[in-house]
Amino acid sequence: MEQLAINGGTPVRTEPFPRWPVWGPEEEQALLDVLHSGRWGIGGTKVPEFEAAFARFHDAQYGVCVTNGTAALGIALRAAGVGPGDEFIIPPYTFVATATAGLALGAIPVFADIDPETYTLDPKSVESRITERTKAIIAVHIGGCPADMDALPDLARRHGLTLIEDAAQAHTASWRGRHVGAIGDMGTFSFQSSKNLTAGEGGIILTDDEELADRCWSIHNVGRVREGAWYQHESWGSNYRMTEWQAAILLAQMPRLEEQSARREENARYLGEQMSKLGLRPLTRDPRVTQHAWHLFIFRYDPQIARGASREEFVRAMRAEGIPCSVGYVPLYATNAVRRGTEDNLRWAGRDPSEIEELHRPCPVAERACYQESIWLPQNVLLGTKEDMDSIAEAAAKVLRLLEPESTPTG
Ligand SMILES: Cc1ncc(COP(=O)(O)O)c(C=O)c1O
Repeated sequence: MEQLAINGGTPVRTEPFPRWPVWGPEEEQALLDVLHSGRWGIGGTKVPEFEAAFARFHDAQYGVCVTNGTAALGIALRAAGVGPGDEFIIPPYTFVATATAGLALGAIPVFADIDPETYTLDPKSVESRITERTKAIIAVHIGGCPADMDALPDLARRHGLTLIEDAAQAHTASWRGRHVGAIGDMGTFSFQSSKNLTAGEGGIILTDDEELADRCWSIHNVGRVREGAWYQHESWGSNYRMTEWQAAILLAQMPRLEEQSARREENARYLGEQMSKLGLRPLTRDPRVTQHAWHLFIFRYDPQIARGASREEFVRAMRAEGIPCSVGYVPLYATNAVRRGTEDNLRWAGRDPSEIEELHRPCPVAERACYQESIWLPQNVLLGTKEDMDSIAEAAAKVLRLLEPESTPTG
C-alpha cells in the first residue's frame, strides 16, 4: 500500500534540485584577473564596471555598489533624509532588514498590510498609515513580484514622500516593461548567497536622480565626495564599499541572468497550473508584471483540501517526499528585534513607547499569509526541468491524498 515518506514510505524524489549558485571557468578567470591586478578594493575597475552594467540592465542611470542589501536600504533611507523619530512605512511580510535598516537610523517602522492576491504592499493600507511624521515608503518586491508601481509612486508623489523599492529579491523583474529599481526614487538589491544574482554577499542602490546617487556614494564611502581629496569628509558616512572580488563574480554571473530568469518564468507558469489543479493556489500575477523574478514560488494552502491537516503538517510531509518547501516569514512586528528596536527609537525620539500599539497595528492579511497560508519553494527549484516540476506536483498530490491530520484544526 502507498505510504507517505514521513510514515516510512518511499519518497517521491531523492535527487537534489539544481545546485545554487551556478559557476564556471568565467568566475575562475574573473577572480584570477582581480588577483593579478593587485587592486582588490578601492581603485579597481570591476566595481565601476558592474555598477554601470547592472544599472543599464535595470533601466537606471546610476548604481552604487555596497556591502549588502541591508546596507543598501540603510544608505537609501539616509540619503532620503530619514533620521531619528521619522516614520517609514513597510509591509510586515518581508525580511527583517526592511525594518532594521531604518531602525539603525533611529527611525520608526510603521506597518501597512499586503494585498491578499499578490502579498505586495496594499496602497490603500499605506495611505491610511501616512502621518505628518512619515518620510518614506519601502515597497518590497516580494519573492521577485513587483509591488504596484503605478499606485505607490503616485501616492508617494502626492504626499511628498520618498519611495524606495526593496528589490533584494527582484533582479530582472519588470513592471509594464520597465525593470524595477529606479521606478521609485531609489531601489536596493541584495547579492547574498540565496539571491538570483549572487556574489555570496553584496548589494547595490539604483536611482535616476544624480543628487541621490551622489549622496549614496558619499555615505557608502566614509563621507567622501566624488572628485574630493582622500581625507575630505563632507558628511557622516561609513565604509560600505564592495570589494573587487564581489564585482568580478557578479560581472561573470550577469550573462546567465536572463536565461535563468526565462527558465524560472517557464517553470513557474507550468508549476502554477499543476498546483492550481490540486487546490494549492499560487499568488495572482498582476497583468502589469511583465517579468516576475521568481526568487520564491509562493502558493497558498488551505487545510480544507487535506481533511483539516495544518500547513505545517503538509510542509513536513512534502519535505520528507524530497521537496524543499518552507512556511516563510512571521509578521515583522511580531519579532522581538523589531518590537524592541521600535520602542527604543520611540523613547529616544521623546515619544511614548506605548505608541507602538498603534504604529504596529496587526495586519490581518499578512497574519493569514504568515501563520496559515503561505508556502515557499526556493528559486533554484525553478531552474530544473519540466519533470522536476511534475515531481513537485506529484508529491503534493500524494501528500494531499494520504496525509492524516494529527490535530483538530482550529479554523
Ligand atoms: C526583502 C529583503 N530585503 C533586504 C534583504 C537584505 O539583504 P542582505 O542579506 O544582502 O543584507 C533581503 C535579503 O536577505 C531581503 O530578502
